[in-house]
Amino acid sequence: MSKKPVVIYGVTGYTGRLVAEYLREYKLPFIAAGRDAKRIKEVLDKVPGIENAEYEIAEVEHTTAALTKLFKGAQVVCNMVGPFMKYGPEAVEASLAAGCHYTDTNGEQNWMLHAEKEWGAKFAAKNLLLSPGIAQMYTTGEIAANLCLETPGLDTLDILVLWRGFPTYASTQTIFSILTADFFYLDQNQYKQWPATAKAEVAVPGQHENAMALPWGGTAHPVWFKNDPRVSNVKAMGGVFDRTVMEGVVQITAVVEEKIKPLPKAEAEKALSDMAASLQSGMPPRENPRINTTVDSVHASGPLGHAHCVIHGNCNYKQTGLLQAFAAYHLIQAPPKRYGFASGCQAFGHRELLGVLQSFGLVSEPKLTVDAPSVRRG
Ligand SMILES: NC(=O)c1ccc[n+]([C@@H]2O[C@H](COP(=O)([O-])OP(=O)(O)OC[C@H]3O[C@@H](n4cnc5c(N)ncnc54)[C@H](OP(=O)(O)O)[C@@H]3O)[C@@H](O)[C@H]2O)c1
Repeated sequence: MSKKPVVIYGVTGYTGRLVAEYLREYKLPFIAAGRDAKRIKEVLDKVPGIENAEYEIAEVEHTTAALTKLFKGAQVVCNMVGPFMKYGPEAVEASLAAGCHYTDTNGEQNWMLHAEKEWGAKFAAKNLLLSPGIAQMYTTGEIAANLCLETPGLDTLDILVLWRGFPTYASTQTIFSILTADFFYLDQNQYKQWPATAKAEVAVPGQHENAMALPWGGTAHPVWFKNDPRVSNVKAMGGVFDRTVMEGVVQITAVVEEKIKPLPKAEAEKALSDMAASLQSGMPPRENPRINTTVDSVHASGPLGHAHCVIHGNCNYKQTGLLQAFAAYHLIQAPPKRYGFASGCQAFGHRELLGVLQSFGLVSEPKLTVDAPSVRRG
């Protein structure tokens, strides 16, 4: 049974250790949980400033029963063990059974859809938050979208998220795992399936060179805005700035369509996981704000108006670690704005999350331009 209010599950990963770092900055005691106590200690010993953090190490089996036992007594679970479609259910079930709010860092649309359908009402019935996807991909873009939507009358979101860097082991596994899933955009409030090989040349704010963007498994945005009465249409695309990486993903997508999708599920999963591991088996270096930059750009339009918001930032894994730590910090002091399934902005407010990211120097002041003459005339 946990005697600390927050559990970081998957603390040994690239993102988990950043959550530990930011929880220390919020002076919040936590349980550092994972499948190997020795490895947790080795990893945490290297977290900057960890000597001032209040934490306990917990080795736990990846089963609902063992996780429930560990989570009991805590208030918030921050889950970093992905891909979530593969490893998420045990941690969500355990959070629900133990009476904890649940957050994770996923960027998998299929997991968002599954989590909402399977557990949304159950968490709401217990006054608990189920917020999968509090992470740079896609919370920062959600903040930009909501800044646009402060202008009424805009019902269509065209969202772009790009970052500079190389994905971690689990992120690469995730990018590959979503290639076999169906993924959707929102059209007049209905889910419409993207063609598996969809891609686009996109104009990136702040530079002359175009970039290549992919639907990246559909992203969380169509799911988050599905029940938002302001919004009817959402298309989101993204990826990394490095065109060679993106071209590689396009080629792999074609191979997946032709050769891997027809395989039995277990064989397909293994083939994808092996391909992902061959591309990334190590740990990328700690992020450098001069190199690892992010751009979130949202065009919001309606019949008579348009708004555009751009948020330039840096260190997308740090943004993710901070957003997770802030969510926990908020939840142990005050209830979320919404129980059950909710995005970061729906649970905590987009202006609040923007302020948090800005106060730690991870995003710039958003550039918001509004052209909505009918609104201005009032
Ligand atoms: N949307 C976003 O912007 C965003 C940002 C950051 C991360 N993420 C997502 O968050 C997840 C974690 O990312 P990461 O960068 O931290 O990856 P990572 O460095 O590879 O870490 C993965 C973590 O999961 C644990 N794990 C893996 N398989 C496990 C299993 N079978 N049982 C128990 N624990 C297991 C690992 O433990 P060991 O150390 O014991 O192997 C490690 O703690 C990924 O799915 C990634 O896509 C998303």
